[in-house]
Amino acid sequence: MSKFEELVFSGVQPTGALTLGNYLGAIQKFVALQDSHNCIYCIVDLHAITANLVHEDLRNQTRSIAAAFIASGIDPTKHIVFNQSAVPQHAELAWVFNCVARIGWMNRMTQFKDKAGKNRDNASLGLMAYPSLMAADILLYRATHVPVGDDQKQHLELARDIAQKFNIDFSERIGESGLGLDAVYGDKAVNAFFPITEPLIDGPAPRVMSLRDGTKKMSKSDPSDLSRINMTDDEELIVKKIRKAKTDPEPLPSEVAGLEGRAEADNLVGIFAALTNKSKADVLADYGGKAFSEFKPALTEVAIDTLAPINAEMRKLMDDPDHIDAILKDGSERAGAIAEKTMNGVKDIIGFLR
Ligand code: TRP
Repeated sequence: MSKFEELVFSGVQPTGALTLGNYLGAIQKFVALQDSHNCIYCIVDLHAITANLVHEDLRNQTRSIAAAFIASGIDPTKHIVFNQSAVPQHAELAWVFNCVARIGWMNRMTQFKDKAGKNRDNASLGLMAYPSLMAADILLYRATHVPVGDDQKQHLELARDIAQKFNIDFSERIGESGLGLDAVYGDKAVNAFFPITEPLIDGPAPRVMSLRDGTKKMSKSDPSDLSRINMTDDEELIVKKIRKAKTDPEPLPSEVAGLEGRAEADNLVGIFAALTNKSKADVLADYGGKAFSEFKPALTEVAIDTLAPINAEMRKLMDDPDHIDAILKDGSERAGAIAEKTMNGVKDIIGFLR
């Protein structure tokens, strides 16, 4: 083997209801990647306790992400869907990575700075170590490709830095163990145990913005529920939210350039495009010159076409938690088998007796 086998890994935190933004930005991509790659999709419940330790109903939150994955078309029998805490090697490898990563690297993480706020001393140590756990998630499976949102780019870079430092620091022993592959970093030949993971950030998916303010990201934590479409919203709610979505008084432009400076119009056209797998230009070719009173019902229709069946399937799945739990357990066992192999390699390379 001269190259790491391609494998896709991604994670979603079980905090708050998933939005249309999560669906178009992440889950739709996860679904598409199944055709070309082996995929592992993880519900990262260990990450969920970094910002808030106590959760109202973490178990059901975890199940609802699993339900959203499956209802959207992720096949947990061909690929792997599981929750992070059920595979103890995530925490185990994260500890090793805490000893690989440097404090200076962690201090530079913008998400940590944002989430910790002014009172950094009061943030959990776990919040600071969050990216190291994320690197462990990915590298435990020696995943080569990670579909993530733009906001996770820096964390991915950190995972690459961790993999690289581990490979360099242990290069000789990795070579002796026979568990590595030849790699070259700059002009340095190294035996690599971990791949240098590629982010998959681009794609047709737009950044989905708030329905109340086209300059803000659609977020599950926005205090106004009218700002977002949740994957669990029924038809009636979708109709209402799109009807109330903020717009401007002008009709839609015929060209994409005409969306500039019109954040709300741009967002709605982008959502329409993503839902129908078209470009914004295609959408404007059909709707340029039309008023929002005409465009919004059309958007509502495509949103309902996509989301209603997913929504119905999610409800069905959530009515049978034992079934979801069985799927996750099966996924954890299959993930655990890979994780154990990697962790044994790590232990041998470091020199832990086992
Ligand atoms: N930090 C990611 C987010 O909030 C979630 C995550 C955890 C993740 N581990 C991961 C994403 C591994 C990709 C790969 O979006």
